[in-house]
Amino acid sequence: MNDQFHINLSVNGTLHECSVEARMTLADCLREKLNLTGTHLGCEHGVCGACTLIIDGTAVRSCLMFAVQATNKKITTVEGFSENGVLSPLQKAFKNNHALQCGFCTPGMLATAAEFLSNNPSPNRTQVENAISGNICRCTGYVSIIDAILEAGVKLQSSGSK
Ligand code: FES
Ligand code: FES
Repeated sequence: MNDQFHINLSVNGTLHECSVEARMTLADCLREKLNLTGTHLGCEHGVCGACTLIIDGTAVRSCLMFAVQATNKKITTVEGFSENGVLSPLQKAFKNNHALQCGFCTPGMLATAAEFLSNNPSPNRTQVENAISGNICRCTGYVSIIDAILEAGVKLQSSGSK
C-alpha cells in the first residue's frame, strides 16, 4: 500500500484537510478529494491549460503540481472567482462576449486571464493574444475570448477593483 500524506489546503478561503499519495496531482486532489470539479483536466501534461488555477497570485497548471506541494499556499479555483453567487467582472465579460464556447476550457482561461489582468491592467489586443495563447481552444477560436478579456480590463480599470 502506498504511503499517505496528511495535508492542509487553503482553497477559496477555506482550509481543507486530506490524505493523499505523494504522486497525486493537485488537480486530481481538488476534483477527487475535495469535490471541486470546476478544475478541468485535458492533456494532463502541461500543454492545454485547461487545469490552470491561481496559487498565491500566480496562474499554475494544476496537472503539473503535486497536491503535497500546495500545502500552505493560497489556492483559488474557478469556484472561488464569484462572490456570494455574483460573477466577477471577468466572468461577466466572458458571458457578455459569448466567450464560454465549449465551456470545458473556461476555468483555465479565466485563471490565466485573471492573473494576466492583475499584472497588466490595460493591455492591448496583441498582449491579450499572447497571454491566452497557452490555453488551447480547438472549437470556435479566440476572438470572443480576447474581446472578453479586453472588456474585463476596461471594467476593472474603471471600477478600480481586481
Ligand atoms: Fe493541465 Fe492540460 S490538463 S495543462
Ligand atoms: Fe474550449 Fe474552444 S473554448 S475548445
